[in-house]
Amino acid sequence: MTTDIRAARALLDKLPRARLGFFPTPLYRLDRLSDQLGVELYIKRDDFTGMNLFGGNKIRKLEYLLGAAAGEGAEYAVTYGATQSNHAMETAAACRRLGMTPILYLTAVVRPDEAGLRANLLLDRVLGAETHIVPIGPGETEAQAEERSFRMGAARAAELNAAGHRCADIPMGGANPLGSVGFAAGMVEMAEQAQAMGVRFSRVYHATGTGGTMAGLHAGRSLLGMDTEIVSVAVSPKEKDAYLDKVCGLSANALALIESERKPDRAAMRLDLTQWQPGYEQPSEAASEAIRTLAQTEGLFVDPVYTGKALAALLADAREGRMPEGPVLFWHTGGATALFAEPEILGDLCR
Ligand SMILES: Cc1ncc(COP(=O)(O)O)c(C=O)c1O
Repeated sequence: MTTDIRAARALLDKLPRARLGFFPTPLYRLDRLSDQLGVELYIKRDDFTGMNLFGGNKIRKLEYLLGAAAGEGAEYAVTYGATQSNHAMETAAACRRLGMTPILYLTAVVRPDEAGLRANLLLDRVLGAETHIVPIGPGETEAQAEERSFRMGAARAAELNAAGHRCADIPMGGANPLGSVGFAAGMVEMAEQAQAMGVRFSRVYHATGTGGTMAGLHAGRSLLGMDTEIVSVAVSPKEKDAYLDKVCGLSANALALIESERKPDRAAMRLDLTQWQPGYEQPSEAASEAIRTLAQTEGLFVDPVYTGKALAALLADAREGRMPEGPVLFWHTGGATALFAEPEILGDLCR
């Protein structure tokens, strides 16, 4: 049995939520790119979530994560990411909107130019976030440096809590079950728009990093009993089985949080590993080409780190005849500030 949209919303509305974004985000057909590809292609504009000009997928998660933190009286929130993290910047912005002080622990995957701050690091500074850059030490892997940043952030939160200032600890990417509830809500929002437009999507493409968005989309899919295929395009290397286990766990726990009895369908999870190379925050020719293609057909921008790679997977599938029958949706998850990041991130976009 499927849950209808109204019943799904009733479950989602049980949890505390801060109103940060502007929803529903626009969903419409990309006429010129559809003609070029011979595919009925639509876009979901989560680059337009608000709350500021840069938007993106994190706002959906932060509405639940910071909604809970605010309800518990948090004065501070600590979070994590790479130095050009969209999540960290949007968490800092959302904290300010809710009257909290943001604290960021940022792993230097690409070494920032601290004398000439760019993109999200620049915005973090403007937002007055307490920012700690965590360099990757000699002999240390990126993952080890990240783990170290988590310990540093937890220690800072403990210090504030001990001094009587409540500090929320928000995971990297907002990737926990509560954050994923935000994307289950996003899927319900999309289903309602599609229903009103009389469109039934065969497939959705989106970028996946920490997996919180993917987990939420699958939670929403299960909640509504949808058969839409979700292609999650990895932007960093992943060990497939371990990653799907993690996403499945997040998704199941998100459904449990809203007291749904439904379970995510692990067998329906499609992880696309064709685009992440050469690595996280490292440009690829396919992503650069995807960025130029969308700009030059539709006047829209995707970014080199996330959405450019997801769009590159969609374009490859369309051009090589791997599309299903019926309309396809590209879920734009934001991230345009990366277009103004360090040259190592941008690559040869404008060659
Ligand atoms: C623009 C953009 N798209 C997609 C993602 C991936 O989302 P998730 O970390 O939930 O997998 C991120 C995460 O940082 C992002 O900033």
